[in-house]
Amino acid sequence: MIKFNNVTKIYPRDTVVLQDISFEIKEGEFVSIVGKSGAGKSTLVHLILGLEVPTSGEVYFKDVNLNNANSSQIQEIRRKIGVIHQDYKLLPQKTVYENVAYIMQVEGRENKEIAVEVPKVLEVIGLENKINNFPNQLSGGEQQRLAIARAFVNNPDIIIADEPTGNLDPYNSYEVILLLQKINKAGKTVILATHDREIINKLGKRVVTIENGKILRDEAEGRFII
Ligand SMILES: Nc1ncnc2c1ncn2[C@@H]1O[C@H](COP(=O)(O)OP(=O)(O)O)[C@@H](O)[C@H]1O
Ligand SMILES: [Mg+2]
Repeated sequence: MIKFNNVTKIYPRDTVVLQDISFEIKEGEFVSIVGKSGAGKSTLVHLILGLEVPTSGEVYFKDVNLNNANSSQIQEIRRKIGVIHQDYKLLPQKTVYENVAYIMQVEGRENKEIAVEVPKVLEVIGLENKINNFPNQLSGGEQQRLAIARAFVNNPDIIIADEPTGNLDPYNSYEVILLLQKINKAGKTVILATHDREIINKLGKRVVTIENGKILRDEAEGRFII
């Protein structure tokens, strides 16, 4: 589904972040991309989203080489990916319900459909009792769960979570990981970029470890041992 072919990424001023990286992510996988802060995890995510281009090598999304993709192809690919960030990127003036509904409205979904879907999604993330709260009336864990709802409400093929637990305590981190596992079990491909070794060790899923621009390890049931 996603393929990196000998990808090197060098930022201006000669920062070599990724060096000749090759790997593949298959449909339905749960893959953690781990490494220290500055290892290049977010760069890798940005390459998948077409927000950065490789200095050399190719990134494929399905059969599309992102190097040659035009802007409408890139748009199409981004619509198939739900992204979750460390800072939750919620709309502060909108309620929990409206934060999710808005994402569907932007996609042009019908009001009737929105009224049916949003309560279902809020139940999945466990916020069905907080539909009228504003983001600042939620805990950090609840805010991140709402951000996850926004990422999957339009039914993307892939969820990419870039340090989703970066601002959370262990309990809320665990809740977020459980939710990502639930989404994966529902058939979505999940890519989790993190430097949080606690959560990785609990997952028992594929772990790709990046260090010094290279893939140090790629293990089916990896542990994070830098
Ligand atoms: N847009 C950019 N321009 C120049 N350097 C960047 C840019 N983005 C990231 N970097 C550098 O690339 C390295 C990897 O960054 P990043 O991919 O954000 O790592 P991680 O997400 O693993 O913490 C860091 O040294 C960072 O300073
Ligand atoms: Mg990062």
